[in-house]
Amino acid sequence: MTTAATNAPPPVKLGVLISGEGTNLQAIIDAIDRDELEAEIRVVISNKAAAGGLERARRHAIPAEFIDHRGFASREDFDRAIVASLHAHGVELVVCAGFMRLLSPVMIAAFRDRIMNIHPALCPAFPGIDAQRQALDYGVRFSGCTVFFVTEGIDDGPVIVQAVVPVHQDDDEATLAARIHAEEHRIYPHAIRLYQQGRLEVRGRRVYIRDAPPIGDPAAIINPRIP
Ligand code: GAR
Repeated sequence: MTTAATNAPPPVKLGVLISGEGTNLQAIIDAIDRDELEAEIRVVISNKAAAGGLERARRHAIPAEFIDHRGFASREDFDRAIVASLHAHGVELVVCAGFMRLLSPVMIAAFRDRIMNIHPALCPAFPGIDAQRQALDYGVRFSGCTVFFVTEGIDDGPVIVQAVVPVHQDDDEATLAARIHAEEHRIYPHAIRLYQQGRLEVRGRRVYIRDAPPIGDPAAIINPRIP
């Protein structure tokens, strides 16, 4: 007998790439633990030995590997080592979460349309490093965060989910970063869930989401508010 449960898509097997603290990794772990995300983290890989995210992975009994990019002659060779580890762990979807290395075509070809990244700005604004500083320097009233599929460029692949975050007049880099981070922790598990449910389709630059819920009101958010 066929039931709804047996028709449900299986948990997605993730490989998470990090370089730092790993709070997005933690948000994904927590979403899985709360049964909000059908996923299994097969491996966490860091190019920094001291990355806090490696310790988070170990605390949750997730295989954690340090692969030092400085030990390789080229970006491609480094990526080949990462791809080998991801394949060895049976990874299906690669999740970059604060992984501060540009991926080479080796990695992108190995996991085409199966690598996500998150950036602390509304892409294509403020790519690269210090996105929050760039937003403050520019004087935008809104910034935010973006989950996208990785392509050869820097923070410019097809957009999956974005969250808009207002910039406050008295913000500094730390306060804006904290507000954006909180939204990152919501949208990354959300984007992975859409993938796991088989609802994402990349058509050129655009990602179509099957059964996307209507965005609803308000149609626009204005900052500062019109009284
Ligand atoms: C996140 O804010 C992520 O958007 C950013 O690194 C931070 C990692 O935080 N990534 C980029 O800037 C990529 N260009 P975390 O280690 O606490 O998850």
